[in-house]
Amino acid sequence: MEKIFSEEGIESEIIQVGNKPIRGCIGCRVCAEKGCCVFGDCVNEIVPKFEECDGLVIGSPVYYASANGTMISFLDRLFFSTPFDKTMKVGASVAVARRGGLSATFDELNKYFTICGMPVASGQYWNSVHGRELGEAARDAEGLQGMRTLARNMAFLMRAIELGKEKYGLPKKEPFEMTNFIR
Ligand SMILES: Cc1cc2nc3c(=O)[nH]c(=O)nc-3n(C[C@H](O)[C@H](O)[C@H](O)COP(=O)(O)O)c2cc1C
Repeated sequence: MEKIFSEEGIESEIIQVGNKPIRGCIGCRVCAEKGCCVFGDCVNEIVPKFEECDGLVIGSPVYYASANGTMISFLDRLFFSTPFDKTMKVGASVAVARRGGLSATFDELNKYFTICGMPVASGQYWNSVHGRELGEAARDAEGLQGMRTLARNMAFLMRAIELGKEKYGLPKKEPFEMTNFIR
């Protein structure tokens, strides 16, 4: 995807989070007052890049038919603690696994986008690549073609949204109605 973005003249950066000690969200809601997460690890460092970017690709290995736990901790805190409007930033998710749980992970990751007005870029399958050992994913020809298609589609969508924003502006936002399902 990085190669296609570069061919399309789109700047991109890969940030690896799975190898970092990233703790989970505790729902303390201090971020609502401070505008950033109370825990000072790499989540807050990445926030300015997230605010500035036009699109976000989340890639995760499948662990027990779900995304990697560190990735979930990272995403919960990144999305929950950031007050800026994410409407029309394009999202895409990719799962990698030896055998199973790919589409469940894909669905799980896309939910971060669809809760906050981020359109989801699609590829030619439920964006997944197979592989277990280092280098195996590079032999999944269909999976890799899916990544190229996804990157091209995402580049198109980001450009189309940029033009749409210039012409029509962002959609009108209503004040948030929050109700709890308690009788
Ligand atoms: C804790 C753990 C759970 C895993 N669960 C699954 C799984 O549910 N389905 C699957 O196909 N592969 C599973 N795998 C294999 C990984 O998805 C696969 O090896 C992946 O390429 C690992 O990427 P990584 O080296 O970046 O962690 C699991 C691996 C680990 C370490």
